[in-house]
Amino acid sequence: MTHIEHIGIAVRDLDKANELYAALLGVKHYKVESVEREGVTTSFFKTGPNKIELLEASNPDSPIAKFIEKRGEGMHHVAFGVEDIHAEMQRLDKEGFRLLSKTPKKGADNKWVCFIHPKSTNGVLLELCQEIPEGEEDRYQ
Ligand code: CO
Repeated sequence: MTHIEHIGIAVRDLDKANELYAALLGVKHYKVESVEREGVTTSFFKTGPNKIELLEASNPDSPIAKFIEKRGEGMHHVAFGVEDIHAEMQRLDKEGFRLLSKTPKKGADNKWVCFIHPKSTNGVLLELCQEIPEGEEDRYQ
């Protein structure tokens, strides 16, 4: 793993949260993107070298809706940047971490992603993410 790529925060109302985080960080979000399969709408902020991802549920069955129902708004995951997500998934699987998918999935902001169950990481949902290289958009699903 090379760095913390972003911090994910679950919010009820993305428009309001976008305004609030723009006031907080002094920059506007640079993109809004839906990931239908995950039932989320995301927005991204960049401040210095750091990225914040806000996540709003796009349907009532969304994992984000369930998360907020249970625990309220707040920190949802920490994402680590990796250079080779497939190799990193194999390594972590061997180490006994509970990966939430067998293959990388297409996430927001042009990334291959894989989540690690919080039960195997001291209660924090972790995300691995790798920038999708140009021309490799179809490498995984
Ligand atoms: Co994320």
